[in-house]
Amino acid sequence: AINVNDPGLITLVNKLQDVFTTVGVQNPIDLPQIAVVGSQSSGKSSVLENIVGRDFLPRGTGIVTRRPLILQLINRPPAIPKIETNGEPVGEADETVSKADDKEANVDEWGEFLHIPGQKFHDFGKIRDEIVRETESKTGRNGGISPAPINLRIYSPNVLTLTLVDLPGLTKVPVGDQPRDIERQIREMVLKQISKTNAIILAVTAANTDLANSDGLKLAREVDPEGQRTIGVLTKVDLMDEGTDVVDILAGRIIPLRLGYVPVVNRGQRDIENKKAISYALEHERQFFEQHKAYRSKAAYCGTPYLARKLNLILMMHIKQTLPDIKARIASSLQKYSAELASLGDSLLGNNSNVVLNMITEFSNEYRAVLEGKNTELSSIEL
Ligand code: GDP
Ligand code: NA
Ligand code: MG
Repeated sequence: AINVNDPGLITLVNKLQDVFTTVGVQNPIDLPQIAVVGSQSSGKSSVLENIVGRDFLPRGTGIVTRRPLILQLINRPPAIPKIETNGEPVGEADETVSKADDKEANVDEWGEFLHIPGQKFHDFGKIRDEIVRETESKTGRNGGISPAPINLRIYSPNVLTLTLVDLPGLTKVPVGDQPRDIERQIREMVLKQISKTNAIILAVTAANTDLANSDGLKLAREVDPEGQRTIGVLTKVDLMDEGTDVVDILAGRIIPLRLGYVPVVNRGQRDIENKKAISYALEHERQFFEQHKAYRSKAAYCGTPYLARKLNLILMMHIKQTLPDIKARIASSLQKYSAELASLGDSLLGNNSNVVLNMITEFSNEYRAVLEGKNTELSSIEL
């Protein structure tokens, strides 16, 4: 897997989530939201799409993202296959999807928009069409913008429950139906999303533009002056002039960032028109960095998979920081339940008391293992 949805991390979070739900602690691990900021057409939507590993965001030249898109990924266990009378296992029944006319169709993965409750989109191409349609319904077709977010949820066994935010690019001169104060309006839209101290900022800059003029970095610095939660992402490295490269930026010699920069190569406009698959694009990206003489020696620190790994580490760090905090809540819940159990008395519960006690004991053991670092997934990560 190459996306933030690292299977190890998903397993760990699910385990923790299960353990906490057992004692009634709701949503104990509030994972940070990941937001993109940068100039128009710097490649923000492309970066997010590569991170998720699915094709579903409108991308292209000019102002394509014209309303914020709040994308909630929700982890959901796969449906248990039902056995039909003829012995053929089938997925969860779903009238809206037929595998024959949609290769992407998957009964376990779908999107749902807040503005169309109850309608499941199994075809990710149709999700993109709906984002375009819904954008136009509020902003017209002539470049208009709106701060009203589009809310999309993606349910899948292969994602981490977290939020990604796609945002319109920073721009200065109004075109088409855009308001005269478009610069201020977009700034405010973006600031609203990245000001949350829980947000991870992907400050996107096209490598074929000057880093010193990066709108993304400037805005990120306003809300995160210490650079605690900003990652620099350099796109379009493939479009740089012959003989130029981003090596000085990566080495922190231009504008240093605590969390550093990651250079990436996304799909170009022609790839979008030719509907080039993400898998193909990632392979192209890998070859680009491995074969380029400026990046060959550091190819391991280049590209989307490395960016995803960086995000994984940040999420892990967040989980580790959250654990001691919820320890108290768990401990007090345990105490409360034990007391309640004791007050019920053996006679009332009869044989059930053993079941409940076993459950609590099992829970305590698992929880202790996590805290004491005996959980292999968590303790193997060096931060
Ligand atoms: P956004 O406006 O910042 O969301 O940018 P998009 O993701 O919509 O991309 C804008 C345009 O730049 C599209 O035509 C993309 O194909 C192109 N693009 C984005 N990243 C790259 C890249 O790394 N290399 C190349 N060649 N084109 C890119
Ligand atoms: Na664009
Ligand atoms: Mg965009």
